[in-house]
Amino acid sequence: MKRRYVIVGVGVRGINMFLRPLVQTYTDVAEVVGLCDTNPKRLEAANELVGTSLPVFTDFDEMMRKVDCDAVIVTSVDATHHRYIIGALEAGKDVITEKPMTIDDVRCRAILEAERSSTGRVIVTFNYRYAPYNTRIKELLQSGVIGRVHSVEFSWYLDTIHGADYFRRWHRRKENSGGLFVHKATHHFDLVNWWLEQKPVKVYATGRKNFYRPDRQERGERCSTCRYTNTCEFFFDLNADPVLRKLYVEAESEDGYYRDRCVFDPDIDIEDTMGAVVTYSGGTQLTYSLHAFSPFEGWRIAFNGSEGRLEAGVWETFYPSQARLLPDRKSVRRSMDPALAARGQMETLRADEIRIYPLYGGARIERVPRVKGGHGGGDERLLDMLFRGDVPDPLGHAAGSEDGAMSILTGVAANRSIETGRAVYVQDLLTGAETVRAGA
Ligand SMILES: NC(=O)c1ccc[n+]([C@@H]2O[C@H](COP(=O)([O-])OP(=O)(O)OC[C@H]3O[C@@H](n4cnc5c(N)ncnc54)[C@H](O)[C@@H]3O)[C@@H](O)[C@H]2O)c1
Repeated sequence: MKRRYVIVGVGVRGINMFLRPLVQTYTDVAEVVGLCDTNPKRLEAANELVGTSLPVFTDFDEMMRKVDCDAVIVTSVDATHHRYIIGALEAGKDVITEKPMTIDDVRCRAILEAERSSTGRVIVTFNYRYAPYNTRIKELLQSGVIGRVHSVEFSWYLDTIHGADYFRRWHRRKENSGGLFVHKATHHFDLVNWWLEQKPVKVYATGRKNFYRPDRQERGERCSTCRYTNTCEFFFDLNADPVLRKLYVEAESEDGYYRDRCVFDPDIDIEDTMGAVVTYSGGTQLTYSLHAFSPFEGWRIAFNGSEGRLEAGVWETFYPSQARLLPDRKSVRRSMDPALAARGQMETLRADEIRIYPLYGGARIERVPRVKGGHGGGDERLLDMLFRGDVPDPLGHAAGSEDGAMSILTGVAANRSIETGRAVYVQDLLTGAETVRAGA
């Protein structure tokens, strides 16, 4: 029998990751029986873009009363996830939620409590775990190739297209996203938890907004009404993409959600430069950094173990071409550096290598073939697990609410550490002791 799903939140992610595959690829095992979003025009647009005429609701409770489903897929704004996760669990339904599971410790505890008293279960869609490259790292570490891992160095770089996008829309406010330590780093902290098979214990962090600052004089409220589009390297033409136009520009009148706000707006309260030191239950130490204004997009990691070192990393873009976002005159300035390309360095940087350095010699390089698809090929593999189910999972790819909690609470602890200047214990966030201490 087909499983029946409803989807809450029909932005780009809800449509492209879930709605479209469900109605195009998984029709033998799944059925979408309802869509919910606070914006009625976006609901209409979602049906139109995908070629469906599914029942739509602006009220979640009404949808749950009128529609019979087995599971709720949550792809709304981060700060609203808990409402739908808890609502679904109270109705005894399973939940598939996008990361981050939620944005703070109070909502996190409420979700864990709701799941304890429900017959429903929560799955958090940590797609990066499913990328073959990341899976290979897990296999190598599990095989003991570098012995016991004592420390991890992990840096993530967002370029000035992807990184800037978090400063244009709702993510720019911590009350919506928890900031990048939660919204973005939840992916990264989850990978470390999964790779190490340990839990985070203590977090010390710093963070600042250094780059997307309101110092720029030539700025407007949003790109579509700005006077400086000819000179601004962050000009984002929302109208140029017919899908974005339909989903967002044509739905603005309903909720005032402008997807092209100025990245230099003083209203932004999230950081763009972050660093954290995290200690783990098995004694491992992580030093982590995240930058949202890099010339390239990707990440680097090194695991230092009792018997050697493993280095890995992926370069997703390098000097990104702005052609999709900017008029031609700008793409020249920001296209790939020809000198670098001529030297063949692009290929070196893009190769998905894993380097293994045993302590006393015998270094080797493994190349993991690149696969197509979103998030290193993780998206497609995750969907198969979610909707076809019953696939063997020897490496524990599937993630539940505890994994969701452990990854976001590392970021929540980091945020609190930035505020207070002290180290924060994840256990205190789980029990509520930290909430009492903060006087919240
Ligand atoms: N796993 C990944 O790699 C990945 C990638 C992109 C986005 N995401 C996640 O997917 C989610 C959606 O992101 P997006 O980029 O599509 O954002 P979006 O802004 O395009 O879409 C969010 C939708 O939520 C709706 N919404 C806002 N408040 C709501 C409420 N109270 N109730 C119901 N709906 C509400 C908005 O109207 C909008 O349609 C986020 O949680 C994001 O973190 C995950």
